[in-house]
Amino acid sequence: MDTKLDLLMQVIAQKFRRRLLAWYDAHARGLPWRANGDPYRVWLSEIMLQQTRVAAVIEHYQEFLRRFPTVEKLAAASEASVLAAWSGLGYYRRARMLHAAAKIIVREHANKFPNSEKQLRALPGIGRYTAAAIASIAFGEPAAVVDGNVERVLQRVAGKRLTREELWETATALLDQQRPGDFNQAMMELGAVICTPRAPACLTCPVIELCIARGELAATTKSAPQKKREIDYALNYRDGEGCVREVFLVQRPRNASTMAGMWELLELTHVNGTSVALFTLKHSITVTDFKVRVWRGSQPSHAKGKWIPLPRLPKVALTGLARKILRKAEML
Ligand code: ADE
Repeated sequence: MDTKLDLLMQVIAQKFRRRLLAWYDAHARGLPWRANGDPYRVWLSEIMLQQTRVAAVIEHYQEFLRRFPTVEKLAAASEASVLAAWSGLGYYRRARMLHAAAKIIVREHANKFPNSEKQLRALPGIGRYTAAAIASIAFGEPAAVVDGNVERVLQRVAGKRLTREELWETATALLDQQRPGDFNQAMMELGAVICTPRAPACLTCPVIELCIARGELAATTKSAPQKKREIDYALNYRDGEGCVREVFLVQRPRNASTMAGMWELLELTHVNGTSVALFTLKHSITVTDFKVRVWRGSQPSHAKGKWIPLPRLPKVALTGLARKILRKAEML
């Protein structure tokens, strides 16, 4: 690039950093994982925040840390207890990878948390984004991140769609070398609270003067409509020993492609057309909207499953939908 233009870009980038960081210093949300730069906590928060909203993560993060306060405790735990603590966050593969990575850290790194983007990348469940997020936030390494929020901010500032590689290059060029962790979090924060997907709050944006789009970019393609499905479950319950109420749950196969090994209610393939469902609820998983009907079950005769006393339910790795149904039935 022409050196004069290059200089101009650098001045603009510097202005962008200064304004963004000043805004972040004044307005950053007090999220629990920001309280200290402990790499274990930063790692845990970043894994939980993949595909899960901040509000839902806050609910589970503290409880998970209470159960597994250090990477050693996590490594020593059983998979069932890790999955149970993860229950409600969804995408359980993340929990299995977290557990596997904790074991590697303890066994192969002698409990010392890998402290560079490169080393982090080698751990299960840690990709380009997560390695850069942990390296920058916990260790101050100048590694830029691109997640959905950052992508939107960059596209709007640039006023056009950018390819994946252009996104990483632009984020890297903009990154503040002195405060990379704060800069990365500030970009995500801006995308989450101001530069939102719909109706961005441009009038309160700290970098509006440096932004080309100043609003939503024109849509290019329409997202595919959600598929609709109906599904029926049996809520089987009884009073067990000592009159403690029990509910009948089945375990998903160990090799299921989703939520392997998690517990759920018995799915019904046929329902009696003359009876009335106990209740219905809506549930969405990725591209499908489910209408879920829950029926009072009779004694399950053939199904392999377990009667679980209600007081034990909080320790069982339930699918998100099973949790929702049991909550609605006031059993959880
Ligand atoms: N999303 C993922 N990581 C985040 C962080 N550290 N702050 C805000 N949003 C995030």
